[in-house]
Amino acid sequence: MVKVFINGFGTIGRRVAYAVANDKEFEFLGIAKYTPDDRLREAYEQGYDVYIPEESISKFKEKGYKFTGVIREAIEDADIIIDASSDGKGYENKIKYYLPLSKRAIFQGGEDRYGERSVADIIHNSRVNYSKAIEHMYVMQGSCNVTGLGRIMQPLIENYDDIIRFDSIIIRRAADLENSKEVKDSIELTRHPHHQDDVRDFIKEPPLYVDAYKVPSRMMHMHQLNVRFKERAPSKDEILSIYEKEFGVAILNSAKGTADVRKFALEKGYPFGDTCMVHIHADVIRVQDDTLKIAYSDDQTGIVVPENHILLQGMVFKRDREGAIKRTDMIFNLSNRKRELMEFFK
Ligand SMILES: NC(=O)c1ccc[n+]([C@@H]2O[C@H](COP(=O)([O-])OP(=O)(O)OC[C@H]3O[C@@H](n4cnc5c(N)ncnc54)[C@H](OP(=O)(O)O)[C@@H]3O)[C@@H](O)[C@H]2O)c1
Repeated sequence: MVKVFINGFGTIGRRVAYAVANDKEFEFLGIAKYTPDDRLREAYEQGYDVYIPEESISKFKEKGYKFTGVIREAIEDADIIIDASSDGKGYENKIKYYLPLSKRAIFQGGEDRYGERSVADIIHNSRVNYSKAIEHMYVMQGSCNVTGLGRIMQPLIENYDDIIRFDSIIIRRAADLENSKEVKDSIELTRHPHHQDDVRDFIKEPPLYVDAYKVPSRMMHMHQLNVRFKERAPSKDEILSIYEKEFGVAILNSAKGTADVRKFALEKGYPFGDTCMVHIHADVIRVQDDTLKIAYSDDQTGIVVPENHILLQGMVFKRDREGAIKRTDMIFNLSNRKRELMEFFK
């Protein structure tokens, strides 16, 4: 059995851990925890083995938190690591553990793809470059917005060869629902949105230009994607018929905003209150001369979790994309979530 270790147990790590622990194809070794705090109770309740930094042993013992061993031991034992650490720490883990121990690893979207602290030479997007990504020893999973952009842009690129450019305005949530961080009453500017370069890693043409703003919300991101065609843009019905068939894309007509979608997921009891997908708000799609305007919301906490699961299968089993998606769909029940969302917001 392939042994998987999750390094980091925050918003993303706890979700990825839940998915891997529930997939009997993997031997789940456990999680790394750096701070002795109450998040550990969740790990104990789920029955996960907990590994900690060597230098923190006395702190964990003083506070009475149990652990199985130190992080280095778990990494030595693992075949592959999913690194879900806070932005930039993945690079440090690569230098400290993964490279010297020759361990394969998947990194998250808050790491650097370019420059001195680059963690990998490819960003994975399951809709675009799965087969290429799975051949690499180190792969970065695109962030939530980057994942959503690939999922929406690629079907258009495959269907139309007369797209000139994509322009995306990303309205980002300030913090996740479960995050205790204060949400400031301000619309914050983003000087250099990383999404543009990250997407260019797997979609070079037509060009994408991104502007991003952070708003005082905890629910989800909203994207306004404007697609410019050489001549007239296709009709709304034609566009929707393309997305109907897409995995992890739901078409909604009556959601007033991101909170409606998040509340639906919470009320349905989806794990962690996630839909794990993007939702096209079909009622506000506009076709104006040469421009198609699509608004879609992006479940920031959920969307990258099935992506990590798809990528993991590819890297360790060399499964083809259809097979990997089929298994991920079974583990996450995503087609069913999509159907329920589309029925409720029809
Ligand atoms: N939140 C989202 O919606 C979202 C969406 C897509 C991608 N991402 C990306 O996913 C990654 C994780 O984000 P997050 O939101 O899950 O962050 P988070 O909630 O702040 O969790 C980060 C975790 O990293 C742990 N950590 C600290 N030092 C570490 C180290 N050296 N190695 C490994 N883990 C370490 C922390 O452990 P302790 O709690 O024990 O201190 C914490 O649990 C980032 O790259 C982020 O950009 C996040």
